[in-house]
Amino acid sequence: MHEAGGSSSCIDRRAFLAGAAAVLVLRPFGTMASSGDSLRRFELVAQPVPAPLLGRVRPPVAAWGYGAGVPGPEIRLRQGERLRVEVANRLPQETTVHWHGLRVPNAMDGVPHLTQPPIAPGERFIYEFEVPDAGTFWYHPHHRSAEQVGRGLYGALIVEEPEPPVVDRDLVWMLDDWRLTKQDQLSETFDHPHDMSHAGQLGNLVTINGVDSSAFSLRPGERVRLRLINAANARLFALQFTGHQPTVIALDGQPVTPHEPADGRVVLGPAMRVDLVLDAVGKPGQRYAVRDTFYPRQPYDLLELIYDAKPLRERPLDTPVQLPANPLAEPDLGRAKTHEIRFEGGMMGRLSSATLNGRPMNMRQMMSRGKAWAVNGVVADGHTHEPVLTLERGHSYVLAMRNDTRWHHPIHLHGHSFRVIRRNGQPTRHREWQDTVLMAPDEAVDIAFVADNPGVWMLHCHILEHQSGGMMSVIRVA
Ligand code: C2O
Ligand code: CU
Repeated sequence: MHEAGGSSSCIDRRAFLAGAAAVLVLRPFGTMASSGDSLRRFELVAQPVPAPLLGRVRPPVAAWGYGAGVPGPEIRLRQGERLRVEVANRLPQETTVHWHGLRVPNAMDGVPHLTQPPIAPGERFIYEFEVPDAGTFWYHPHHRSAEQVGRGLYGALIVEEPEPPVVDRDLVWMLDDWRLTKQDQLSETFDHPHDMSHAGQLGNLVTINGVDSSAFSLRPGERVRLRLINAANARLFALQFTGHQPTVIALDGQPVTPHEPADGRVVLGPAMRVDLVLDAVGKPGQRYAVRDTFYPRQPYDLLELIYDAKPLRERPLDTPVQLPANPLAEPDLGRAKTHEIRFEGGMMGRLSSATLNGRPMNMRQMMSRGKAWAVNGVVADGHTHEPVLTLERGHSYVLAMRNDTRWHHPIHLHGHSFRVIRRNGQPTRHREWQDTVLMAPDEAVDIAFVADNPGVWMLHCHILEHQSGGMMSVIRVA
């Protein structure tokens, strides 16, 4: 049970098998051929929905979702296929859909006012693009994100490899964190100034695939590919699978040399994804906790792995789990130009002044306008602004990013994946490809990529209250 951060008196274990309740409804309209390629069509209806976050025996929470519940339908297709999604807006406010981590054409990126006009209530918008990379991605609105994602608008988007590694089950766990009132309804405190200037909105209920799951059943000997997606506004996770040794095979959808997570903790900042291979090495009837220890003063059990009586096989598979590489351009570090990106602000920081809408102001003046953060001295107000950088198409770049704050920030770049090449000056072990990189307080992280996707792309913190609080900028690739 995990009323994270809440009192342990509310422990209420349901005999509930996440495997069964977590089945996502997939609603393809069928496929059809378009100029030889296959076109996969989906419809997403953004609307208010009752969400049984606390299980079927307690009243549902009034949430927003794509279709019938939270999360939205899982969109699953094959690498190289073309996806067409018709989005209908039945919300009481404008919206857009962003395809997080997918390298789409700029006009399909779903950033209001920057790449498209927002979709008005009652209107529709059609997104259509090819998916170049296999991996674990997700979709969510990019308009009033703290509120819209916070109310439950998100879903998984899975792109399958032509030849995926052999596993017995391929599952998605979409993690989310909700702030509920005593009446078990959403606390509508989105973009609260205190959250905005500190760690973002941390909640009191953690769900997996929209349900407060307390158990997950495993069969002895089975191999599971677990695709973890952090859809929370602000909560970071550090998952420990007690009694198990999961192998990380992909980060943010991109293949990585298979490895055990550092210190046995699978760390996910908001918007980040980790693909794990989990071998069920336990014995019939055994139980093992999956613990979240990110906030050292508030560890809790996310759920328990519960072993079935019947083994699937005597010993786990030992077939290879390395994923085939995606077609990403390799940055040329010898020729790459370096640009510094400095993140500043927040409580207990050193920021003395930054520019908002052309006017320099101090922290108190920023706070009175609902802002607390700056990128290279500029506080973002809305999605359209002067690019912080203009990059030449096809050239390699290093962004030397500096977290000059007392807070963690998962920094996301749209339209590209980048290699994380150095942390605090030290080369990284795996030179991992990411689209969202977690920066610890005061950390320096260098990323490298080829600016090969033309357009205007957001670079922002994915703690959604930090994003609306100004921690956002635009990079132009021309
Ligand atoms: Cu997941 Cu700019 O967003
Ligand atoms: Cu942040």
